[in-house]
Amino acid sequence: MPILPLSPQVFSILSSLVAEHAGLTFDAAHMPVFAEKVAARAAEQGFESLLDYYYFLRYDRGGADEMAALIETLVVGETYFFRELPPLEAVVTHTLAPAVASGRRPRVWCAACATGEEPLTLAILLASRAMLDGVEIVASDINGASLERARTGRHSRRALRQDMPPFAERWMRQTPAGLEVNQRLRDAISWRRVNLIDDAAVSALGTFDVVICRNVLIYFSDEIARRVIDRLTARLEPGGILVVGVSESLLRFGGALVCEEKDGTFLYRRPA
Ligand SMILES: C[S@@+](CC[C@H](N)C(=O)[O-])C[C@H]1O[C@@H](n2cnc3c(N)ncnc32)[C@H](O)[C@@H]1O
Repeated sequence: MPILPLSPQVFSILSSLVAEHAGLTFDAAHMPVFAEKVAARAAEQGFESLLDYYYFLRYDRGGADEMAALIETLVVGETYFFRELPPLEAVVTHTLAPAVASGRRPRVWCAACATGEEPLTLAILLASRAMLDGVEIVASDINGASLERARTGRHSRRALRQDMPPFAERWMRQTPAGLEVNQRLRDAISWRRVNLIDDAAVSALGTFDVVICRNVLIYFSDEIARRVIDRLTARLEPGGILVVGVSESLLRFGGALVCEEKDGTFLYRRPA
């Protein structure tokens, strides 16, 4: 397949279009990987130049669908079971368990769930404490193909990078092909395709006691990350908790959330 050349000028307009659509930010250092993925996709679709591809994405009636497909090739869907487990345990113990005990059905949104290992880990934690039915879990991602995969409940071997914790053994099993998660857990999660840049789609989800958005802000510029954090904050109930990745401190963004330490992990609370 011929590789289409990408000039700095076309890189600039194409990468801006991608950032506008999905928040993903590619600077000059990322140009080679961006060029490779975009050129491969454009050539596969029959385009002979990346400028033509840009005009198609921007102005053609089929541009929106093609942009969605391009975004799927550009995102990094790296995830695995029990990744950064302590913050999930902390929200279960300190936010969800007390809410369930008080007779409420708290809502959790896992906002960039890739192939589902993260919300499924949360579901396993809840199930192991007999709280699965007491909590509503919404899991979303921009990548439709990842969500399709999540719905199957079948995961590759790489989705488990440690020994299976004893509390999980009842809920997932190792198969020759990888891992399979109990259907009750998959059915307990409402899987949605949501772009974090899309205000209307995010608002339509309602409000949550806990929003988990981990290992995605790192792909956005600071300006876009700040806007996404504001959107997520607006989705929190007063007193609600935002969980970000362990390498994604929000302190430099300022904002309305208050950082709290719980069981050695950092959580961000919207003041009540
Ligand atoms: C590295 S994975 C993180 C998965 C999981 N949260 C974890 O920490 O294991 C990043 C995910 O963010 C998703 N993503 C990137 N941009 C997005 C956007 N604008 N809206 C929603 N999801 C997005 C990608 O599709 C990918 O599945």
